[in-house]
Amino acid sequence: KSFFQQTQSFVGKKVMMTSGPTHESIDPVRFIGNHSTGKMGKAIALELANRGAEVEFISGPAAHAPHHPLIRVTKVTSAEEMFEAAKAYFETSDIGIFTAAVADYKPETMVTSKLKKKERALQITLVPNPDIASQLGAMKKKHQFTVGFALETDEEQVNARKKLESKNLDVIVLNSLNHEGAGFAHDTNKVSIFDRHNKEQHFELKSKVEVAKDLVDFIEQSLNG
Ligand code: CTP
Ligand code: CA
Repeated sequence: KSFFQQTQSFVGKKVMMTSGPTHESIDPVRFIGNHSTGKMGKAIALELANRGAEVEFISGPAAHAPHHPLIRVTKVTSAEEMFEAAKAYFETSDIGIFTAAVADYKPETMVTSKLKKKERALQITLVPNPDIASQLGAMKKKHQFTVGFALETDEEQVNARKKLESKNLDVIVLNSLNHEGAGFAHDTNKVSIFDRHNKEQHFELKSKVEVAKDLVDFIEQSLNG
């Protein structure tokens, strides 16, 4: 479908999204991060904007970001910064979509001068980061709708459903890691999508752009039904 043929089913809807990795500083030159590229988040944002949504896109460092007149990109570095930005934009949003690969832990202290190497083991104490999806899920209003992702290696569906509950999400997208061609470094993903009413859809391995269409269709149906 071209831009002009696309149904404008999200006109008047405001969406807050998190995307990409976070970087947690160890010292001024080093960080703890992950391999998230932000491609999935970018594809979802563009699909929503093409259907008329206004998107606040909060992106971690060096991740792919969308360009579209209806999308505003806010760049952040750490999970704490992502949380603050997400909280501020979520308050006025109808939908929250958490695609970011947020670092679960951060160094307890950020050393202000570069660590010098020594001839012995280095220990860094890590403390938990805020869980953005959980915290915003807990403050979700009746009219608001949230979507999360789950990356699992064992008991995929059971764990994905647990996350749907514990984070008070309306929809969860399970990324099958146990599949060739799916995940961080690839342009393709194999997903299953679940909601709170025992609706589930299982999709084939597809491009992230096609996965984004399937997800936005699923959200559209949930909002209308
Ligand atoms: N998430 C988040 N903030 C965090 C951790 C996760 O917003 N600090 C969101 C992710 O964006 C994703 C969902 O929660 O939408 C699930 O992330 P995942 O890493 O699979 O789950 P965790 O709750 O972190 O549990 P674990 O990593 O132990 O499986
Ligand atoms: Ca995690």
